[in-house]
Amino acid sequence: MKQLSTTEITEVWKKDKDHHIHPWTDFATFKDEGAMILAHGEGCYVFDAEGNKYLDDIGGLWCVNVGYGRQEIADAISEQIMQIPYYSAFGHHTSIPAAKLSAKLAELAPGNLNHVLFGCGGSVANDTAVRLIHFYFNQLGQPSKKKLISRKDGYHGSTYISMSLTGVEFDHIGFDIDRELVHQISCPNPYRRAEGQSLEDFCNEKVQELENKILELGPENVAAFFAEPIMGAGGVIVPPPGYHKKALEVCHKYGVLYVSDEVVTAFGRLGHFFASESEFDIVPDIITCAKGLSSGYLPLGATIISDDIAKVIGKPQADGALFTHGFTYSGHPVSCAAALKNIEIIERENLLQHVNDVGQYFEDQLHTLIDLEIVGEVRGKKFMMCIENLANKNTKELFPSSVNVGSRIADYCQKDGLIIRPVGHMNIMSPPLILNKDHVDFIVTTLRKAILSTTADLKREGYLSS
Ligand SMILES: Cc1ncc(COP(=O)(O)O)c(C=O)c1O
Repeated sequence: MKQLSTTEITEVWKKDKDHHIHPWTDFATFKDEGAMILAHGEGCYVFDAEGNKYLDDIGGLWCVNVGYGRQEIADAISEQIMQIPYYSAFGHHTSIPAAKLSAKLAELAPGNLNHVLFGCGGSVANDTAVRLIHFYFNQLGQPSKKKLISRKDGYHGSTYISMSLTGVEFDHIGFDIDRELVHQISCPNPYRRAEGQSLEDFCNEKVQELENKILELGPENVAAFFAEPIMGAGGVIVPPPGYHKKALEVCHKYGVLYVSDEVVTAFGRLGHFFASESEFDIVPDIITCAKGLSSGYLPLGATIISDDIAKVIGKPQADGALFTHGFTYSGHPVSCAAALKNIEIIERENLLQHVNDVGQYFEDQLHTLIDLEIVGEVRGKKFMMCIENLANKNTKELFPSSVNVGSRIADYCQKDGLIIRPVGHMNIMSPPLILNKDHVDFIVTTLRKAILSTTADLKREGYLSS
């Protein structure tokens, strides 16, 4: 690892602070504090520019699934660059990695999802799904079918349409979204269901809400429903049992396509290549994915569509017209080569089984934190977990948002060599899939200490009674 001098580190820090606009950043504090420079990664660990070591419990950003420092992926990337670094996939050209990866995704995806459009990430995969769905209904002679339904607290990305699909209200502050095209229903968060309501009743209520929304908008106007199998950035919300299956039935009753946004859940995070069928027993019409597809080694996203949709979009249109969608970097050969090697590693090292084994231990150990005064709920599955911190566990009352309880806990963890993600009052975890039981023990011990220190601070500041 190349170590920078203190002067060099300060120079880099200043260049970044003065010129690099960071996503999801509070400029008020950033202009003085700048960013932590991550300079190196190995396995489950990352190192800052000073050489301090951290266990990366967020996998970069839900994405470094096979862990850091994989020489094999670096080799696959450099070999492909020397073979041919780029060629457009427009029209009748392709590359060996793009051809092989699309066939591999068709093999791994459920049902008859056998056709792939590539892009550069998750937002673009969802945007692509929307353009494709509109084109599909135009081709079918149903041009009024355009509206999209998504859920509060869902996250689908940051392009104009994918942010309009996103239901995290905080993410919309100060920006515009398309409220004509996208309509939202509530979040199926079982923790917030009415006192005494059964999970089954809660599930039926949420599915009924979807059906009501389709009827309100008119089935002839509704094109698709977008849902993450488990909501990620909205707080790792695991829906009640049967929710997705019933929602899919409702969609199909009204000719509405079901898009499963597996940007986070695919490629092992829940112990399967895709969670839709393996974990939730549904075969959606479209799956979007990114992140773990290339383990973040290079940008890549994919929109995987069914044979039925492919048949319709593949029908000749008006004379000379084309399927005019795609990007310069659709099917980028080097990104596809990285993804192929990444999938090979997941298969060869049996990482899906590993996630199933260690994931259960991770869940069980994190659940021991429920005895802490401010921990209201520990939820999630396998390598996708969340802790919800509350001012009052009995009433489920939140701390004022200015308290930034999630950030306080994350800061304490970071001081002790653990990176976890603060999202409002919650802390989210999505580690590399190679996490082992010793790592889990370290995470849980460090978190317990951080939550206790935060609790003591909040008592001192009068946010909790002593
Ligand atoms: C479920 C989901 N969909 C879409 C996206 C957007 O992906 P990207 O940031 O690669 O555009 C994300 C990103 O976190 C996500 O979690």
